[in-house]
Amino acid sequence: MKQYIFPPDFKWGAATAAYQIEGAWNEDGKGESVWDVYCNEFKIVENGETGNVAMDHYHLFPQDVKQLKALGLHTYRFSISWPRILPSGKGKTNPKGVDFYNRLIDELLENHIEPCITLYHWDYPRALAELGSWNVRESVDWFADYAERCFRNFGDRAKQWITINEPWEDIFAADFMIGTPSRENMTAKVQVSHHYNLAHSRALQIFREIVPDGTVGIALSFHPIHAAKDTAENQKAVEIYDGFKNRWFSDPVMRGEYPADMLDFYRTNFNAPIIQEGDMELIESQKPDFLGVNYYSRHVVEASPEEPVLHVRLVEQRDGAWATNGEVYPQGLLEMLTRIHQDYDAPVIYITENGTSFGDEQPIGGCIDDQFRIDYVSAHLKSIHQAIDSNVKVQRYYLWSCFDNFEWVFGYKRRFGLIYVNFETQERILKSSAHWYQQVIRDNGLTA
Ligand code: FCB
Repeated sequence: MKQYIFPPDFKWGAATAAYQIEGAWNEDGKGESVWDVYCNEFKIVENGETGNVAMDHYHLFPQDVKQLKALGLHTYRFSISWPRILPSGKGKTNPKGVDFYNRLIDELLENHIEPCITLYHWDYPRALAELGSWNVRESVDWFADYAERCFRNFGDRAKQWITINEPWEDIFAADFMIGTPSRENMTAKVQVSHHYNLAHSRALQIFREIVPDGTVGIALSFHPIHAAKDTAENQKAVEIYDGFKNRWFSDPVMRGEYPADMLDFYRTNFNAPIIQEGDMELIESQKPDFLGVNYYSRHVVEASPEEPVLHVRLVEQRDGAWATNGEVYPQGLLEMLTRIHQDYDAPVIYITENGTSFGDEQPIGGCIDDQFRIDYVSAHLKSIHQAIDSNVKVQRYYLWSCFDNFEWVFGYKRRFGLIYVNFETQERILKSSAHWYQQVIRDNGLTA
């Protein structure tokens, strides 16, 4: 049996995000985020589910950190709730919010788990949303100010940072379900993506002054795009869909420029983005220390003139295995890692998310046998191992997720955790995959 042993300094982790786990949505001076509004006022989630309590990590974090320690994690990726730190998004800091993250960071460090902190994982402050959100250029200053306060408060102990999680998903969330964009608001969305890049770059500039011994990157989602059938039209569809989902976000971050084909396409059709003097110089000047890769699945596409905007249709591949979040396609991770290595001059890469959910999972006789998760993660680890063998610089793996949590519009039915959470009693149970992952970390790879 082939063994897949990782380099000796490889780091094993797991990831979460504030809104998905914390709860305490209106406690201790926290302001509302847009997700509080989506859930409590717009009621976008089935059965009226919300993240109001979630897994109550805000109160139960000391015991949760013990579980992370029991898993043997070297590092834990979590996000800060912006409106917990700044209830109005800007202006006055909430000392109790700062205190919560101080205690969490200290608890992690006492347990020898390195924090890796995401500044923004979609829970945008309501107060700023009401002032125009990422649509207005001031949003760049608001983010820079928030980032600076986080670096000043926590950067003495937390040295690993991620600015923004998955801009594509955040910007195109409304279209997320159907996978292709609508014409509506396209100009605004393209402009928003430019503001994200400016915000990311400004945060990097500030970080390097305040935490010179730290490491900072961004977490982007990557999907290989494949043609349903190999025709010239479909190849064009692949190219534009790849530009739309992958390159539009990774090129500016890694190369300091927008991909020429997409810039031309957006300018011709949507008069966007408006780029001011100095913007590209700023973006160009701030390369991340690592690129965070979130990988779950691939997209298969075909040309479809009736579809708006991109004239591309997503085609479901029904031959392979499927999880709730797409086709199980581990070779796609190797493909993307190889491409990133070649296209962006061999950057340091962290896998900042990878994992799966096959829907609801409930204990039987007190146990959860999630062999499908073990299979999924094993297959993806083999892809990463192969990439490392060809000199791709993958240094970390953050499994999504250590705990079952609130899966955005899908609520609590899509469980992604290594650890089962009973959301009524707040009981936690280690699934089979948790025991398996403990062993992977102990062995520094797959040995059986
Ligand atoms: C990613 C998100 C993360 C989680 C996983 C399943 O797109 O970043 O919060 O929802 O998907």
